[in-house]
Amino acid sequence: MKTIFSGIQPSGTIHLGNYLGAMKQFVELQDRYNCYFCIVDEHAITVPQDRLELRKNIRSLAAFYIAAGIDPEKVTLFIQSEVPAHAQAGWMLQCVSYVGELERMTQFKDKSAGKESVPAGLLTYPPLMAADILLYSTDLVPVGEDQTQHLELTRDLAERFNKRYLEIFTLPEISLSKSGARVMSLQDPTKKMSKSDPNKKAFISLLDDPKQVDKKIKSAVTDSEGIVKYDKENKPGISNLLSIYANFSNLSIEELEKKYDGAGYGTFKADLVDVVNDALRPIQHRYYELVESEELDRILDEGAEKANIVAGKMLRKMENAMGLGRKKR
Ligand code: TYM
Repeated sequence: MKTIFSGIQPSGTIHLGNYLGAMKQFVELQDRYNCYFCIVDEHAITVPQDRLELRKNIRSLAAFYIAAGIDPEKVTLFIQSEVPAHAQAGWMLQCVSYVGELERMTQFKDKSAGKESVPAGLLTYPPLMAADILLYSTDLVPVGEDQTQHLELTRDLAERFNKRYLEIFTLPEISLSKSGARVMSLQDPTKKMSKSDPNKKAFISLLDDPKQVDKKIKSAVTDSEGIVKYDKENKPGISNLLSIYANFSNLSIEELEKKYDGAGYGTFKADLVDVVNDALRPIQHRYYELVESEELDRILDEGAEKANIVAGKMLRKMENAMGLGRKKR
């Protein structure tokens, strides 16, 4: 069986972009791959976090993974900081990274733009992500489109390490979800949906109640044409809503265009509200059952135990390749 690794930051709300771009893919892939899914809390501290909030968000994200359909019997679900090999391997991979290539990452440029002082961790974030992936000899990484550049860097670092030291790393491939790889903001459909958006109407959280979903979808920016048609260039708002709808139903975008031919945006949006609420209801129900449960702790303990074994083995290979420490007798 081939191996999958992916991670999500526990930095606040999990929104429809995270769900459609990442989690929903994870659920579809878990039967066919040996999967590792991670709550990347060490990535979250590259920007300031409130300690109690962070702890809450870590638990919350773990519960979301399972509520969204991840089966802990099939996958290894764990918290990054509970597997110290990630930070150790991250350091080693920083030592094969160049400052120039890290400065070229668009996520770094976006997050550091206009800031007087930038945490070094924001710059060295991608080698830590590479460590996450490479420690598990990962074949495939399911992510949203915004992570493409980080994946390319991961492959570059793996190749560089393999050439310079020993050939120990598998080069991972990226897996993008067909239509959910880039869910756009509901308020500015030319920007990706993001939890850091100051306008809360721009994203739908997986915990939004039916009224909030109704409000957000009904106030989503569209255009004045009133024709439900997919045209990303000229009609980004309605195209984004169409792709959200298609992702949550078993109807394709073409079928939806036909269904709403001549119907106008009001009817389309009202139906989309129902579709999204129907999808969120069971996720929220399971989430609340799990979030404070001992079952969740047990799952995370088991996950960390399994991940530590696999990651520890690769870490020792890395140390050996680089000549760190002493030769094991
Ligand atoms: P993060 O926490 O920002 O996002 C988690 C996942 O959600 C996807 N995503 C989206 N997909 C579609 N449309 C959107 N608007 C949208 N917003 C977010 C992201 O692409 C991602 O798949 N660096 C990563 C976390 C990470 C990781 C890893 C991922 C750390 N180590 C190793 C894979 C493998 C991040 O910040 O994701």
